[in-house]
Amino acid sequence: MIIKGNFIFTPSFGQLTVLENSYIIIEGQWVKGTYAELSEEFTGLPVIDYGDDLIIPGFVDLHSHAPQFVNRGLGLDLELLPWLEKYTFSAEAKFKDLAYAEAVYKAVVVELWRWGTTRAVLFGTIHKEATAKLLELLARAGLGGYVGKVNMDRNSPLALIETTKQSLADTEEFLQDTVSRYALVKPIVTPRFVPSCTPELMAGLAYLAKKYQVPVQSHLSENTAEITWVRELHRKCQNYGDVYNQFELFGQQPTIMAHCVHSDAAEIELMAKNNVYVAHCPSSNANLSSGIAPIRRIIQQGVSVGLGSDVAGGHQVSIAQVMVATVQASKLKWLETQKTDDFINMREAFYLATKGGGSFFGKIGSFEAGYEFDALVIHNHHVVDRNQRSLEERLHQFIYIGEDRDIVARYVAGKKVDHP
Ligand code: GUN
Ligand code: FE
Repeated sequence: MIIKGNFIFTPSFGQLTVLENSYIIIEGQWVKGTYAELSEEFTGLPVIDYGDDLIIPGFVDLHSHAPQFVNRGLGLDLELLPWLEKYTFSAEAKFKDLAYAEAVYKAVVVELWRWGTTRAVLFGTIHKEATAKLLELLARAGLGGYVGKVNMDRNSPLALIETTKQSLADTEEFLQDTVSRYALVKPIVTPRFVPSCTPELMAGLAYLAKKYQVPVQSHLSENTAEITWVRELHRKCQNYGDVYNQFELFGQQPTIMAHCVHSDAAEIELMAKNNVYVAHCPSSNANLSSGIAPIRRIIQQGVSVGLGSDVAGGHQVSIAQVMVATVQASKLKWLETQKTDDFINMREAFYLATKGGGSFFGKIGSFEAGYEFDALVIHNHHVVDRNQRSLEERLHQFIYIGEDRDIVARYVAGKKVDHP
């Protein structure tokens, strides 16, 4: 497949490559290369010509909660722990009903598609059937992702609590059922967070993650009351991250930790050492008054970072809007640190939204040779003076003020993906 257009991508953090009026050749799902001109062997072959449109890598959402989509924009008057109790757990309890789950998850998949999220790492609920349905719907839509059956066996409401034994048995059944069922959608082991998982459950989940060679996701150092609670539950551990590490859930398999708003240098160091990814969720962190994650420092200490919408702590599915929130939050952090922690600029945010999070999946999020071709074709409907704007300016305007209708085509792993 040969595609023509204006390509924009970020080979490294802060670096932007802009290829005007160029060609990309895709073999199967892989990028063979980008070219200013087509060499003789390719002339005469059909070319999909997107004219003056921009072509950018698909967005990667490294952290979101599919069952919470129904709560977007609601219940954001509380901090994390009372918010979970009052709004979130009751919403998730409804996913015991498979028909309800299917209806909601169908809508979730359409929303991901609509906003250009080509790969997503999602929490389901404790319910294995509903969560397996979410994998099926994502796979059927042609999107890529990791989806976890959530585990919770302590400090949880009656409607959502599992016994340790049942939680592990259901997880193993879920893993067996899904681990090699789909090409682009895989399961991920998902202890909700330390307060809702006993030591026995965490140890058992680490065992299953290794046995089935699947990654792990959870939450870390999001909110100060949460961190105090974890310290009370695990007095012998150095910090919150160390609890996961003690139970071998911190990089022993590829691991994503969402938030890390209050991680100190030691906790960040432990993540760097264990190759743990951070999912940065600035919209959620503002909505739940959690704080501003020290993303510049986390990156400087060598930790891989991607962006997360964290719906419904976050109110929007759009990763473009999470990029805007990333830049805005980092500017407040810059002021807060007496202008020592440089803010994240748009090029850097674009990296985090594409190749940064994409690297968790493998060779995803760039148009370099050998990468899987995940792409969005962008037509800037809002730009009235298009010819006077550089391609990079048009990218920035799409990120800040673009709409879903500006995304006129989506590709995942070399295949065009239409409305699910
Ligand atoms: N920590 C534990 N569960 C959750 C959740 O559902 N959302 C967020 N933002 N943090 C959590
Ligand atoms: Fe979350």
